[in-house]
Parts: sequence; structure tokens; C-alpha cells
Amino acid sequence: MTQPTQPLHIVDIIRHKRDGLPLSTAEIQHFVHGIVDRSITDAQASALLMAIYLRGLSPQELAALTTAMRFSGETFDATPLHTFTIDKHSTGGVGDKTSLLIAPILAAAGLAAPTPAGIPGICVPMISGRSLGHTGGTLDKLETIPGFNTQLPLPEFFDTLKTCGAALIGQTPTLVPADRILYALRDHIGTIESPNLITASIMSKKLAESLNALVLDVKTGSGAFMKSYDDSRHLASLMVQTGTLAGTRTVALLTTHDQPIGRFAGNWLEVQECVDIMQQVRHPMSADLIELTNILAGSMLHLAGQADSPQLGAALSDEILRSGAAYRAWLSIVAAQGGDITVFDTNTSQNGHPSRSGEPASRIYSRTLVAATSGYLASMDCTQVGWAVQRLGAGRTKPGDPVSAHAGIEMHAKLGQRLTHGQPLITLFSEDESLLAEPHHMLQETLQILPAPPTLQPIIREVISAG
Ligand code: URA
Repeated sequence: MTQPTQPLHIVDIIRHKRDGLPLSTAEIQHFVHGIVDRSITDAQASALLMAIYLRGLSPQELAALTTAMRFSGETFDATPLHTFTIDKHSTGGVGDKTSLLIAPILAAAGLAAPTPAGIPGICVPMISGRSLGHTGGTLDKLETIPGFNTQLPLPEFFDTLKTCGAALIGQTPTLVPADRILYALRDHIGTIESPNLITASIMSKKLAESLNALVLDVKTGSGAFMKSYDDSRHLASLMVQTGTLAGTRTVALLTTHDQPIGRFAGNWLEVQECVDIMQQVRHPMSADLIELTNILAGSMLHLAGQADSPQLGAALSDEILRSGAAYRAWLSIVAAQGGDITVFDTNTSQNGHPSRSGEPASRIYSRTLVAATSGYLASMDCTQVGWAVQRLGAGRTKPGDPVSAHAGIEMHAKLGQRLTHGQPLITLFSEDESLLAEPHHMLQETLQILPAPPTLQPIIREVISAG
């Protein structure tokens, strides 16, 4: 590491960025070390994050920040497994639960093609995040499975991968700790929507997994952090460049996100939707989720050498889902991470809310929003829909707050669908009855019904890769 000739002071570093001066690698390293060893306060870290948000980063600064965050703690090394390591990460969405399906699909493919040492031929060492802004988080969803440990120490993470082909954990105090701290801070100080900060956050986690290949799902549209197509494209290019420079084959798919993905948005609700799909119960509202999952998993299977094209990969992914192999892989991953798999046994329901099997049902309140007029569901601000889900109790208002397992929404209609007056559109669920009114109003305000059908964007807008 470069040794600064003069002592560095965080206040000077904040001033430099505030005034639009470039930061040196040493200054960026000083910042990242300081947040991890807690010599820099949250107020100082927040000030620098806001300065970065407003002033941006040069390519050199972005590379320095990503590298410093990647090496801010332990990193994972799968080389002794002699397997193909691959992961996918999304820039965040509403009802975006593809990770819960993709990890077992890839694990099943890897188990079917073991290495000579009997290890799955593909491994997915997935480091995920919690809910961020209006979007949900994979860790919060997984933790609704009683006992599921998202903080496995690295040796257990390694063992789970070796036997199951996938493991899903979060940043910990020792694994990418800088992202753990900055991620939680950014959620509360209005600095999420920065292409540089998103790139450093995602790529520090993914590069700490020492992957052979990475597929990025970069959202664009009203539910994405980057709303405009150009901004989403810029974010995708930054991440692809960062991954490629670090030696990881990186592909970004720009995907449309103008409405919640699938049938449910909410922590347990999303786990249940994925379990249904893996158990071969395909609800019509889950069709877009299944399509997106197969496209992303297909691209991964292609990169892993299991399919001659991403399209053939998507067909293989669907076959793995339909055969039950993904569900078997899911059960073994959940069990290996301490989760109680009996909660998936039967699907009981309360007020239309699918509950965890065998659990004493907590009281769940619901309210259904209906079409105020006949016509076509034409548009919605999907970010507002995400905030409505968070305010039902699915998200947190400050770092460390607990999240509700059961809060969320069920979609009864999708964009472009023909509606008749009074038809159910969305059901809201909450464990606290007083939390239903505001989200109900937010959803009522944002759903637009028009006489003519809207023009809809395709699910995949563009694929961006280095070469
Ligand atoms: N996902 C992440 O891991 N980080 C971000 O900043 C946004 C989405």
C-alpha cells in the first residue's frame, strides 16, 4: 500500500471532495480504513459520501475505492475447490427475488456436472445485501426462514459451497466490512442513487468472492435507482469495466423495471413465491419473475460452459426448475445454513397471506385496492410502490431496525392488463393495522388506469460486456 508522506486527516479529505478536487489513492484508503476501525465517525463518513454523490469520482478514484472496500476485511478464495465460480447481482428492485431461484438453479447444474474431485462443477458464493431505499434485500428475505444463518464464517461458507454448490451470506464485520457500514449509512442519508457508490458497493462484494464470471442485472425504469436509460447504461458500463479490469468476466443485462417483479413484494412473501415456483406451482402473476430468472440464469449457465448460448442456457434453467432439481438444491442450501426446511411443507394462509408452515400465525392485517375505473393498467411509479412495501413494515427506518417478515403486497394485475371497475389490483399485508393506511393511499395515487393499452418495454433492453 502507498504510504502517505504527510499524515492524512478526514476533514481535509472531505473538504477536497467537497471542493471538487480529486482524491489520491492514499486518501481513499485512509477513509476506508477509518470507517472500518471506527476512527472516522458516521457523521464524517456521511459527509464524504454526500460529497462523492454530488461531485462524482474519476475512474482512478472509483478503482481505488472499490479495491480498498474489497480488501477492507477477509476475502473468499475458492481456488482450492477447482470449480467454476459465478454469481449474479442486481442493482436492486421491488419484488426482485431472482437470487433465491438462481442460486439453487446454478447449484443444481453444478451438482449434475461434478469435478473429478466430486465437487459441484459450478459454485455460487453469493454475498448479498439488506433492503436499501425502496428496494428489498436478499438477506432480509432469507432471514424470515427460521434459523437461516446469513453470517456464516468463511470456513462454513466454503464447506456449504463444496457440498451444496451455492451459499448465500451477507457482508460481516470481517467480510467486506466497509460495504456493510457504508451500505447502511447510505440507506439513511439520501446517497444511494450514485453510479459510483453503487459500483463500489456491488463490485467490492462481488470481487471479494474471487469469481470466474459475474452477471449483473442492471435495472432501468421507474423502480430502478437509475431511472433514465442513459444513467442505467452508464452504471452498467462502470460495473463491467470495474469487473473486467479486476480479471472477472463480467456481463451486464439492462432490464426493464417499471412494476414489481412477480406476484409478491415483501420478505417472507417473496420466499414463498420462489418456493411455489420450485415446487412447480406457477401462478400467472409470477410469469415475469420466471422469465427474468431464466434469462439471468441462462446467461450464467452459458458463461459456465453448460450451454452453447444464453438462450439455450435459459431453456436449461427452466428445465432445472421444472424437474425439481432446483428445489432439492434449495432445501440442501437452506438446511446447510441452519434454516428450518419444514416451513416449506404446506402452504397455510391467513387473510390470503401465505404463512410459514408449522408456525403459530402472527396476526396479519390486509386491505385490497381495487380498480377505480375500467380500462388498462397503464403505469405506476414503481419506486413509490417499493416505498409502500417498506412502510407496511418490510423495510427499516434506521440501521439495525428489525423488519417484518409478513408485511408486503400481492399483485393481482400487471401493466397492460385489461381491468374492469372494482377488480382487485393489489392486496396489502401488515402485522400492524395502523401501517395500512399510508401505503394504501400511496398505491392509489400512483396506479394509472387509461382507456388505451400502454406501450411496454421488453424485459431485456441491452446486454453490455467488455468485448
Ligand atoms: N446493491 C448493492 O449491493 N449496493 C448498492 O449500492 C445497490 C444495490
